[in-house]
Amino acid sequence: MAEQYLSIKKATEREGSIVSVRGWIHRERGSKKLRFIVLRDVTGIIQCVIEKSIVGEDKFAAIEKLQVEASVSVTGKIKKDERAPGGYEISVTCFEIIGNSDTFPITKDQSAEFLSDMRHLWIRSRRMQAILKIRSTVFGAIHDYYRKLGFYEFQSPIFQATQCEGGSDLFEVKYFDRITYLAQTWQLYAEAGIFSLEKIYCIAPSFRAERSRTTRHLTEYWHAEMEAAWFSFEDMIDNGEGLIKHIVKAVLDNNSEELDLLERDTGKLTPTIEKPFVRMRYDDAINILNERCDMKIKWGKDLRTIEEDKLTRLYDVPIIVTHYPKSVKAFYMQEDSKNPDVVLGCDFLAPEGYGEIIGGSQREADNSSIIRRLKEQGEDPKNYEYYLDTRRYGSVPHSGFGCGVERVITWICGIDNIRDSIPFPRTMLRTRP
Ligand code: 4AD
Ligand code: MG
Repeated sequence: MAEQYLSIKKATEREGSIVSVRGWIHRERGSKKLRFIVLRDVTGIIQCVIEKSIVGEDKFAAIEKLQVEASVSVTGKIKKDERAPGGYEISVTCFEIIGNSDTFPITKDQSAEFLSDMRHLWIRSRRMQAILKIRSTVFGAIHDYYRKLGFYEFQSPIFQATQCEGGSDLFEVKYFDRITYLAQTWQLYAEAGIFSLEKIYCIAPSFRAERSRTTRHLTEYWHAEMEAAWFSFEDMIDNGEGLIKHIVKAVLDNNSEELDLLERDTGKLTPTIEKPFVRMRYDDAINILNERCDMKIKWGKDLRTIEEDKLTRLYDVPIIVTHYPKSVKAFYMQEDSKNPDVVLGCDFLAPEGYGEIIGGSQREADNSSIIRRLKEQGEDPKNYEYYLDTRRYGSVPHSGFGCGVERVITWICGIDNIRDSIPFPRTMLRTRP
């Protein structure tokens, strides 16, 4: 009869009984008669004590040779032991080796570069395991939020013929005998999609060939985007604030162990779910930076990382900066009818210097303005006919935004590099493993 294996976590709820668990050797040590193996699975770690006199000479000799990361299964009585890592111990009566391990290349104190080379093995670490569990909660929370609000999931192509967020950071792809590009965003197709489904969202990879080697840029990142017919600028901002609150709450509710393991101060996250976000115009942001942070920003300059950093450290909740100068924002943003120099666009900035997590806008309704701004960017409006058509056949006011999922995970986890928020990061210098 097959053994009934329990997860390590479930096993610790069966104190005093005989349990079978399986997993990978996390640590091992011991003497000629006794070995201590710390086993890990997805739910936790547990110490297993193996006595030669119980498992026999031959089995003990094989166990002595086992290295870290070998896969094994064990059966034995489980008891509480405060000295044991994980707080419990199994006195092993039966031990099976499933897969031997060569000497594991990852040991203590290795460089970030080496760990990136060994990414396929490093994702087994307890730290990466914790981040990846939080990542899974974040993705689930986004789907959950939009489905509960009645949004449809809608997909755009990844091969796209036009740019949306500026031509300079497009990835070109050889596409038979011509060139196409990898998607920077789902948005232009979403603006066609709302005339069918009205309220839509998507989570998909976006690609940016930015030559920036920073701690917050990936060349391939997961982009959660929404677009909704009839949504005003304010409706869209409220939706974004609701989304971020929902995600942070889901992680606080489901991942306290993981946040603990990452030594994340959750007191820094609770204001986000308890208090309204700070909303300010670009003009106010410039004034605050110049008056309170001793900076000299001229009107019309985009906010750089340094300015975002200073600004977000003044508050304990995300800041929503609105009404940016038209010249620093994309061609599709609605001009403000009260001031044509600014657009109804916004950025959400995460606290503690984590920076931009959402970029959104109400969409420009007037094709002549879109065509003029495309031309200013050196684009041929002919390539955007499919997009211009959205304004020709029953146009309605609409708004949407895009959220960098890894940026959100990096902030929630309190980690210092976006690289660790995704299993296999792609950056300017790295495309493997
Ligand atoms: O501000 P962005 O460029 O806006 C758009 O792409 C819009 N078309 C979205 C929309 O309205 N549907 O990008 C949106 C978000 C940013 O706020 C940031 O969080 C994230 O995408 N982002 C990146 N994340 C990781 N690495 C990069 N290189 C990123 N570039 C943008
Ligand atoms: Mg942006």
